[in-house]
Amino acid sequence: MIATPTDIIKLREIGLIVAKTLDFMSKSVRPGMTTLALDQRGEDYLNSLGGRSAPRLMYQFPGATCICVNHETAHGIPGPRVIRDGDLINIDVSAEKDGYYSDAGASMCIGEPSKQLSRLLDVGRLALENAIKIVRPGANLNLIGKAIEDTATRAGYTVIRNLGSHGIGNRLHEEPQFIAGYYDSADRRVLQENVVITIEPFISTGGVKARESGDGWTLSTKPHQKTVQFEHTMVVTADGPLLMTQLE
Ligand code: CO
Ligand code: CO
Repeated sequence: MIATPTDIIKLREIGLIVAKTLDFMSKSVRPGMTTLALDQRGEDYLNSLGGRSAPRLMYQFPGATCICVNHETAHGIPGPRVIRDGDLINIDVSAEKDGYYSDAGASMCIGEPSKQLSRLLDVGRLALENAIKIVRPGANLNLIGKAIEDTATRAGYTVIRNLGSHGIGNRLHEEPQFIAGYYDSADRRVLQENVVITIEPFISTGGVKARESGDGWTLSTKPHQKTVQFEHTMVVTADGPLLMTQLE
């Protein structure tokens, strides 16, 4: 959507709910917990703040949030899987309130991360940071992918090419559709003032494609590959990106 000042107030409201829920879930996760228990705690918290799960609402997703463990990359279904010490997990929270949507995600290690995992997490955060820096009205949309890909490549990592960032606002996914996480020279789209988008780099230790793994939802890389994702929702203003999903 192209946000008016009134829209921005509502987008920030749901953005903060999403940010708080992601933070709450990140702090709640413990070894021995199932991903379903984590999801249920998250949904109770989300609902208590007045938000509704966007994946449920829009896609009848069988969970409130998407939770991925280890080589799972996106759209992981919460279930009986037990989270273990040393696991890499990703929590992606998207939610709706009063017809407005917001979307945020983060990867983390349960317990002390290995040196390698800690570096991958750092580069994932840096890719998001670097991509956010190019955001301004009139910028070529494909510079987002360029910033992400350059950050990954410099560190010796790959980008998952079939997962991307997207427009958001009145729906979970809307125009501009699929913003690649790599430099796509054929993409001539330009960032419009006040457009609402997510930026969500998927940085991997070698994976380039996430494949559906049989449950109809979960996308995974090969078992030995690890991927991290960090995501914010933002409004592209003349003063730069206005992050909707930052904790205050
Ligand atoms: Co998301
Ligand atoms: Co998203």
